Amino acid sequence: MCGIIAYTGKQQVMPILLDGLKRLEYRGYDSTGISIVSRKKIKTTKAAGKLNVLESKLQSEITGHCGIGHTRWATHGAPTDDNAHPHTDTDNRIAVVHNGIIENVDALKAMLDPKCEFKSQTDSEVIAHLLATHSGDLMTAVRDTLSLIVGTYGLAVIDQQNPDTIIIARNGSPVIIGVGDNEMLAASDMAALSRYTNQVVHLDDGEIAKLTPNGFDVVTMDSTVAHKEAMTLNNTNANYDRGGHPHYLYREIIDQPDTVKQTLSGRLDERFSTARLGGLNLEARDLIGVKRIIILGCGSAYYAGLAGASMIESLARIPVSAEPAAEFRYRNPVIEQDTLYIVVSQSGETFDTLASLREVRRKGGFVLGIVNSVGSTIAREVDGGIYMHAGPEVSVASTKAYTGMLTAFSLLALLLGRTRDVSPQQGNRIISELKELPDKISQVLAIEPEIAKIASKYKHSQSAFYIGRTNGYPIALEGAQKLKEISYIHAEAYPASELKHGPLALVTDQTPCVVILPNDDLLPKTISSMEEIKARGGPVIALTSAEGAPADRIAKLADHVISVPDANELTLPAIMGVALQLLAYHSAVSLGRDVDQPRNLAKSVTVE
Ligand code: AGP
Repeated sequence: MCGIIAYTGKQQVMPILLDGLKRLEYRGYDSTGISIVSRKKIKTTKAAGKLNVLESKLQSEITGHCGIGHTRWATHGAPTDDNAHPHTDTDNRIAVVHNGIIENVDALKAMLDPKCEFKSQTDSEVIAHLLATHSGDLMTAVRDTLSLIVGTYGLAVIDQQNPDTIIIARNGSPVIIGVGDNEMLAASDMAALSRYTNQVVHLDDGEIAKLTPNGFDVVTMDSTVAHKEAMTLNNTNANYDRGGHPHYLYREIIDQPDTVKQTLSGRLDERFSTARLGGLNLEARDLIGVKRIIILGCGSAYYAGLAGASMIESLARIPVSAEPAAEFRYRNPVIEQDTLYIVVSQSGETFDTLASLREVRRKGGFVLGIVNSVGSTIAREVDGGIYMHAGPEVSVASTKAYTGMLTAFSLLALLLGRTRDVSPQQGNRIISELKELPDKISQVLAIEPEIAKIASKYKHSQSAFYIGRTNGYPIALEGAQKLKEISYIHAEAYPASELKHGPLALVTDQTPCVVILPNDDLLPKTISSMEEIKARGGPVIALTSAEGAPADRIAKLADHVISVPDANELTLPAIMGVALQLLAYHSAVSLGRDVDQPRNLAKSVTVE
């Protein structure tokens, strides 16, 4: 959510800022801007719209070796040229890019000279004006200004009086230093740095850093020096792109057989019929003491958590629940010693998920993370966890990371199950199923043309419903989420049993209903729900792993059948999920939507 890039060094800064913004655009894309120290003056160019609008506005004669850039997801003020970052003071001496929200902006404005001219409606601009009231050391000016702010920030500041210096700071919104050879970078996200360096330093909340081409110094808000070592990150993802496909989303869907293999790699222990998850930092003795599990996440990560809860509960017979992370933290939850808390996040930076993690740890709870982004804030703050290893996910709609979450949960369910009632034989059967998962996903990808035809038929629908029963309900929720996010078709999911208690009133011959029909004991009941929809004239798209007579019955009733390979409760959510991703993708493409950067959304929601 909003991206920051900053550079100081020997190279021309403009191409580096633009490249960084291109790699960060998925974090927010309603306006962009850059400021460069050029011949001892700050030159700022900003534009509403995507990065190409800024590029067409930029004058190539702006040269310089130190600058900052920003891509925005609007919170305060509409996406306009003026509201785009960087923001400058009245004399144009200082430029600031800011991620986060300043809660006491009115009080801060009141501290300024009434003649001070505000050019935007943002909360962020006040920082530039406050900084301009200081002369002397820039680091001190930033620290003194930040001590007045109530709210969250990831920040980068340049000042024409210190032409090769950048000051960055963090409180609640990530900033990472990239250490180069006589050059230094900073960004809100590793994606913008990985082409230039694999040496990174993560700022912690309350830290401020001064970057010059020769190095960096970090201090805390009380001016204590923080000794920070650079860590080496694996840079194999530096050139991640669409892979020749029209959209990142498409690449990320079709990559899933490989990404699932990566999540499973080295983690299936056939000798002891269990999962090997060293990063949990928990021994079998600790696992056996777990009496309850609570899973926390937002959006699709929460839906993956609901699916994960069913997996763990059915194998380990421990009560497990999943909750939206923000709801959990605001209800002053009771934290218990023998409860295991699991936070789930692709980015590892989602504000509400991070806040729930901190709330649990503050109260003494033990928290595991299921995270994709290596070195992200959540990954660094949890007590242990499982990396998905799904690789970068650029499209705003989560696909391969969602499947990575499900796969990580299935490994955890196996491990916990084996500390309880799951026998070695059953453990081996589960391992075989998990090994077959990549191939079963490939079988779903092979029926893409059939799914695309269904998508095209219903693309003009105003609303669509997804229904599922018990294990099928989280699958329905994520299917509806994908459709609404990228096609903008109104889509809602309901438990199949709830249909007749209200939602059935909405069913007409204009509302396609996707019915999730796993080949399980409840199949006859879900078929009955399908009959209820048909009786009201609703078109039914049946997504099923059923075989034999039930499959024939489904085929007779449904308008369309998407048949996927049969699988157990650990792997079916991923298999069916891929079919629903394709349905959403083709609906969005046939409607001409911007599938990678859907309206109003951003990839990583780092504000509350
Ligand atoms: C998924 O398609 C969405 N873009 C969104 O719901 C996302 O899953 C949510 O914001 C959580 O993100 P995270 O996994 O990075 O924490």
